[in-house]
Amino acid sequence: MKRVAILISGGGSNMVALVRSMTGDHPARPVLVAANDPAAAGLARAREMGIPTAAVDHRAFGRDRAGFEAELLKPLLAAAPDILCLAGFMRVLSPEFVARFAGRMLNIHPSLLPRYPGLHTHQRALDAGDAQAGCTVHQVTADLDAGPILGQARVPVLPGDSAATLAARILAQEHLLYPAVLRRFAAGDRRPILLG
Ligand code: GRF
Repeated sequence: MKRVAILISGGGSNMVALVRSMTGDHPARPVLVAANDPAAAGLARAREMGIPTAAVDHRAFGRDRAGFEAELLKPLLAAAPDILCLAGFMRVLSPEFVARFAGRMLNIHPSLLPRYPGLHTHQRALDAGDAQAGCTVHQVTADLDAGPILGQARVPVLPGDSAATLAARILAQEHLLYPAVLRRFAAGDRRPILLG
């Protein structure tokens, strides 16, 4: 049984979808939900589901990213995860941190990578007049939003879409894609999953 730790920054809707998926004959189980903000609403949702939680306020460390990561690693390593899932986690992690979880660290990004790495992905797709948008689950490497793609879900961009309406359409797909990719990844299968 693979042990899965999940890092969040906010509401944690992707975390909830991942936790809810890890039941029955699923080859993985959640062992920790950790946040970089003690006020992250997802922490309460994790506790409601009986998942151990941890929080390290990145603001307490200012520009000392290494200090923040060293503190975050304490509960993380104590949970001894086999797989680390970033789910709405909004901090850039150092290459040293990523190297500790090389090959077993996933992230979901709200664009069809390699298009639109970074922030404001939905507005950028709208500004570009794209007919399609979506989300990507990828392995995390030292390069931001650039690791091997494990899955993508596509949605149409509709007339009158705003960044908010497009984000909502994509978020619903994230909640399908990420659990499907995690299940396949935990079973040792690296074939990409393509939805929509
Ligand atoms: C959402 O914008 C999602 O697209 C991205 O992170 C943000 C928050 O997700 N992955 P969550 O509800 O905290 O999982």
